[in-house]
Amino acid sequence: MEEELIGIKNAALSFVLEADSLESLEETKLQFLGKSGKLTLTIKEIKKVPQEKRAAVGMLANEVKETIEQAIESQTQKLKNKNLSHVIKKIDVTSPGKAEPIGHLHLVTQAIEEITDIFKSIGFTRVRYPEVEWDWYSFTALNFPLNHPARDDWETFFIDEKEHDKFGPMLLTPHTSSGQIREMLENKPPIKMLNIAKTYRRQIDVGHTPMFHQFETLAVSENLSITHLKGTLDYFVKSFFGSKIKTRIRPYHFEFTEPSFEVDITCTVCLGKGCKLCKEGWLEMGGAGMVHPNVLKNAGIDSEKYKGFASGWGVERVLMMRENLNIDDLRLIYSNKLDFLEQF
Ligand code: DAH
Repeated sequence: MEEELIGIKNAALSFVLEADSLESLEETKLQFLGKSGKLTLTIKEIKKVPQEKRAAVGMLANEVKETIEQAIESQTQKLKNKNLSHVIKKIDVTSPGKAEPIGHLHLVTQAIEEITDIFKSIGFTRVRYPEVEWDWYSFTALNFPLNHPARDDWETFFIDEKEHDKFGPMLLTPHTSSGQIREMLENKPPIKMLNIAKTYRRQIDVGHTPMFHQFETLAVSENLSITHLKGTLDYFVKSFFGSKIKTRIRPYHFEFTEPSFEVDITCTVCLGKGCKLCKEGWLEMGGAGMVHPNVLKNAGIDSEKYKGFASGWGVERVLMMRENLNIDDLRLIYSNKLDFLEQF
């Protein structure tokens, strides 16, 4: 019996070592350890072994069984590793890699580029002026009387800094109109400026962000009139919103223009028929006007000789109007939420 067991062990081990696939290993396992496997059947015979030898034979049988099981286990591992290295060898290094997601410019940046191109095509030059400004450039030089409540109306952020003797308190400019003064002080007419910049006001709710963008036009030349202003705005509106969209100007009041206007455009949803959004067919776009003579004077320009026109509109506002974006909360634009931004 002992010899038979040793024979089974040796046979099993040589089969196991020769097995070159998991399937043939499984066959070997069945052949020796299965229900009617060689070892199983032999073990059943142990009861026939004389009593005094039976325990020793039993122990040997157990040893044989364990040795075979361990051999099968380690050969299984070997074959699995071999299969894996086979897979690795099959990787095709010439096949294209996983594509990285491609980003794009922020929707407001896209709008700024478009606005710049439109005005550039009729001779306006894009400029930038400081966002951290003095009161004088943002208000006083723009004809706001000292202590006029307009400084509150614009809900300005003042900066905790010593007041300038001439320019007054330091602030975050609440509108791009401050750029009009800087432009006129730095350049002689004729001027055709497009100032696009960040502007800041103390307001934050579903319709406002404390930082937003404005685009400001300023033209200064001899013999400029309201028709030039209207023509310029018409050109922009038709280029940006589409050729069917009309412009209308309504009398209004700003300190720095005389006369002053609010500019409306045909509603982009109903094309002027009147709908839930616009009520009567028009949407309000922003301010415009003929530069006030005091403003020209404050910026060192001869107000007898030169006339100017100006406009100041919100970038986010024209963008929302054009795309018919009914954004529940405007703050989303600056939230860096990819699932929102990816749509543009
Ligand atoms: N600065 C004004 C504002 O922020 C907008 C504005 C109105 C700008 C009339 C102009 C203008 O240049 O002529 O509300």
